Amino acid sequence: MEEFVSLRKRGVNLLGLCPFHQEKTPSFNVNPTRNIFKCFGCGKGGDAIAFLIEHEKFTYPDALRWLAKKYNITVEEVERSPEQMMQMQMADSLYIVNDFALQHFQQQLFDTDEGKSVALSYFRQRGLREETMRTFGLGYAPDQRDLLVQRAKGAGHSLDLLKKTGLSNADGSRDFFRGRVMFAIHNLSGKIAAFAGRTMHSPPQGGAGGGHIPKYVNSPETEIYVKNRTLYGAFQAKKAIRQLDECILVEGYMDVISLHQAGIENVVASSGTSLTEGQLQLIKRNTDNLKILYDGDPAGIKAALRGLDLALEQDMNVRIVLLPDGEDPDSYVQKFGGDAFNEYTARESKDFILFKTQLLLADTKGDPVKKSGLIKDIVISIAKIPDPIKRNVYLRECATLLEVSEQALVSESNKLIANAMRKREEKIARSPEAASDSPDRAPNPEHPVEDPTFARVQEKPLLRGDEFQERDIVRLLMQFGNHRLEKEDLTVGEYILTDIEELLGNFDNPLYGKIASECHDLLIAGRTFDQHYFIQHPAPEVCELAIMLLTSPDELSPNWEEKWNYPLQNQPLPELNFPLDVRQALDRFKLRKVLKMCQVNLGRVRAASDSGDTDGMLRYMKIQQKLYEKRDELAKRLGTVVLPK
Ligand code: CTP
Ligand code: MN
Repeated sequence: MEEFVSLRKRGVNLLGLCPFHQEKTPSFNVNPTRNIFKCFGCGKGGDAIAFLIEHEKFTYPDALRWLAKKYNITVEEVERSPEQMMQMQMADSLYIVNDFALQHFQQQLFDTDEGKSVALSYFRQRGLREETMRTFGLGYAPDQRDLLVQRAKGAGHSLDLLKKTGLSNADGSRDFFRGRVMFAIHNLSGKIAAFAGRTMHSPPQGGAGGGHIPKYVNSPETEIYVKNRTLYGAFQAKKAIRQLDECILVEGYMDVISLHQAGIENVVASSGTSLTEGQLQLIKRNTDNLKILYDGDPAGIKAALRGLDLALEQDMNVRIVLLPDGEDPDSYVQKFGGDAFNEYTARESKDFILFKTQLLLADTKGDPVKKSGLIKDIVISIAKIPDPIKRNVYLRECATLLEVSEQALVSESNKLIANAMRKREEKIARSPEAASDSPDRAPNPEHPVEDPTFARVQEKPLLRGDEFQERDIVRLLMQFGNHRLEKEDLTVGEYILTDIEELLGNFDNPLYGKIASECHDLLIAGRTFDQHYFIQHPAPEVCELAIMLLTSPDELSPNWEEKWNYPLQNQPLPELNFPLDVRQALDRFKLRKVLKMCQVNLGRVRAASDSGDTDGMLRYMKIQQKLYEKRDELAKRLGTVVLPK
């Protein structure tokens, strides 16, 4: 190695004695710009790693480790199980076979007479340039029984792998893709994960008596091709998506290719199905802005819209563009060009929620049942949006569109949000570990999927320590903060906050503490606050908490009627009961804090005693006495028994 480095340092192509064989004349050449060596005598050559493997007899990983150490680079080593190693090796083999197939299809397209006259002319007639065909790995599979299988076998590829990639049929006797133009499907890093083959016959559904010929046939799913996590064109589009901070979603292969050729490169296709969660994740990693182009009939579009709530949950901005009748993105851009396309989509794109509202509204003309269904449908979508400000804007706009009161939509949406939060909390309470990933999502170790909707409340899922009591204080501040307590002639807010002023810094839950402090600040500034203040709070976590705390669980229960008719019938409504509620909640809260102070102070007594600090010990014991008195007083009022410590 030292020879290699020292030769390299001199900065010119230099000949020296080869360390690998015994020649007397200099034949060992180091090229410092390309960072490689070559011996003209024995023929050995390669990069620094190859040098180490050759010279020091290192394995490849050891060579990497040696170099990393020498140049102070930290290498993270991941232990892989034998199974994982097998999987990776299998994946590599599949990529190699697919790569061979791509070269074959391309060679058939560009370099054979049949390919040129049949397939190349087909692509040209569809307006594609050769450069575009190469960018997207287009090719041609002639209508021959086993051309690819024979060639692959001849080149040493195993039949098993050909079967597995779906390039041959199950027994390996025939090519799977025959008489079709070919589309390579790349993974995100540009490797070939699969193929699609399109028939060149038109109309594609087979002519008279010709039976049904599918327009496209696709490779089967394999280790390297998981359909619902693949977006066609993502490899070619990802740079533009990042740069433009927007992703355009279309349906077909040809749409992606034609748009790309017209200079619109931030385009991917879901390949004819509606968008899956895995595909959405891929997009979300690069941008929050999604523009979806539809060319179908209203029924198809409606079905497609259903899947888009997922995008809302992820706080993505979704816009919809409907293309003129009879055009798809490919035909539009081929006819009118990229500039016209950009103008059209900019002018015609509509916000997803408003689009959906209008589309569904057109169906409900005068039918109240349908309309109430539609309202539910829309509110379900809106309630998925995590950002409360955005959510409120939509509720307002949709109320206008639907001609219903905004308040009705708001309370409907609040119920849904509260319900979802409660479900989540219940789930967490049942099993804290399970809550971090929901089982209905496909696990992807590379990019673990979190539930984004409630990520914020998830941070502190279980109420621990004093959090129950703290939350009750917050609830009362939110619910009754501006109500007057007759006896004290104070508002509930004033009553609570003056009582616990010195405890404001002692909340276990930072969010609850923050809200209480904010209320305190408002009172000092001479301002009041009510429910709306919290529900419309700019901080989403405050807003969500308010919605949860202010929505009574009874309202959400399906059998609420029974609940209200029977045992609760004779009980005062919570609205009338709040003075007692406030006093008890305060006592419970203070009791928790006093108990905690007892613990802390007891520690001080012991520490002072251990260190022989008699004065200190006496002082702390007096405090302890006071704390116990306070504790017993609170406990008595609450009717709780506190066992002496
Ligand atoms: N598709 C498929 N299998 C089919 C039909 C369609 O996989 N039998 C998928 C393909 O990804 C196709 C997309 O659905 O690209 C959209 O279908 P379609 O609009 O029919 O095809 P185009 O892509 O528009 O193809 P072309 O313009 O060549 O007709
Ligand atoms: Mn098309």
